[in-house]
Amino acid sequence: MLFDLHPKEDRKELFGRDKEIDYAISQLLSKNWLTIGGQREIGKTSLMKVVMNEMKKNYGFKGIYVNLRGVRNLSSLLKVILSEINNSKPSFKVTVKLNFIVGSAGIELKRGAKVVNSLIELFNSIEEDAVIGLDEVQEVSQASRQFLEVLGNVFASNPKVRFVFSGSYIGVIRALSNPSSSSPLHGRPPVLLNLRPFDEGTSRDFLRRGMEELNISFDKEDEVVKRLDGVVGWLTLFGNFYAVRKMSFETSMSSTIEEGKKIMIDEFKHFLEGKSNKRLYTTIMSVLKVVNAWKDVKRGVEIKLGNVDDKELSLALESLLNNNFIEKRKEGVYEIVDPILREIDYDKL
Ligand SMILES: Nc1ncnc2c1ncn2[C@@H]1O[C@H](COP(=O)(O)OP(=O)(O)OP(=O)(O)O)[C@@H](O)[C@H]1O
Ligand SMILES: [Mg+2]
Repeated sequence: MLFDLHPKEDRKELFGRDKEIDYAISQLLSKNWLTIGGQREIGKTSLMKVVMNEMKKNYGFKGIYVNLRGVRNLSSLLKVILSEINNSKPSFKVTVKLNFIVGSAGIELKRGAKVVNSLIELFNSIEEDAVIGLDEVQEVSQASRQFLEVLGNVFASNPKVRFVFSGSYIGVIRALSNPSSSSPLHGRPPVLLNLRPFDEGTSRDFLRRGMEELNISFDKEDEVVKRLDGVVGWLTLFGNFYAVRKMSFETSMSSTIEEGKKIMIDEFKHFLEGKSNKRLYTTIMSVLKVVNAWKDVKRGVEIKLGNVDDKELSLALESLLNNNFIEKRKEGVYEIVDPILREIDYDKL
């Protein structure tokens, strides 16, 4: 069902992403690693899960999917991966020796074993073609140097293992996909697949198909797309409110915007954490609701905050850009990407 709110797992439920699925599969079969990027609710987790299932079903791969939300260091990463390997059915062929013992409950870490070495050993002892999906990969960014070392080592040593990464923060995605010369992944970057919103036609077709599945007659596709744009997560949420929960059109729309706002406010606050000039960012966002050209943004920001250094403003815009909150339409013209982001009252954050 298209309006099911869970991440999709089956190719048949994933609307309008055939090209992306085929491309991802071809890359993994060619032994490239993959990074799935894109803004919140654009369908990253769904694409990852569908691709992993296709690899299992059609190509005999083993697969582990791990959501790293809340996994902040490599030691927790090791624990969740071990548990996934131990619980996977059919079981994985993993021949570990040094840092592990194989007991009745499966593979266990030896007391005192070093985390980085153990992770490397574990991944390198996988003896079958396997895809390891790490979702919300930004969460381990605090451990990113060591994390990259583990990955660099596995890439060089075990061609049977393919990683698929995903997350909505470009910072980590970029460290993975465009590694600097000092990075262990330098010269072996994962392929970047950046998910974009549906275009107008695809968004309308998505709504139409979802309604048809539930035998609901509906003719307001245009209005929905005008208000929610092509972000599939919001369209799905609207469809679920309207066609599954049977709410009225207006209530479905306002509930979608309310739910969406909660997600995006959290996301924006998370982005602001640890930044010393939070007011600059919130002010830029509220100014961008009204104007788009660099010099107008500057004027708008200065009306609220007083003088702002050109360089500081450009850096802040760059950072908003890198985190998928805004887009650069052309040189010097910026736009808020998601209609839900336009609904937020940034002065109150
Ligand atoms: N191509 C698609 N066809 C149908 N439904 C989709 C598609 N892509 C995503 N969805 C739906 O949209 C919602 C968001 O999808 P998903 O969780 O995969 O996105 P995400 O980018 O991982 O989001 P987040 O940034 O919150 O992690 C879910 O309800 C999912 O079922
Ligand atoms: Mg996700």
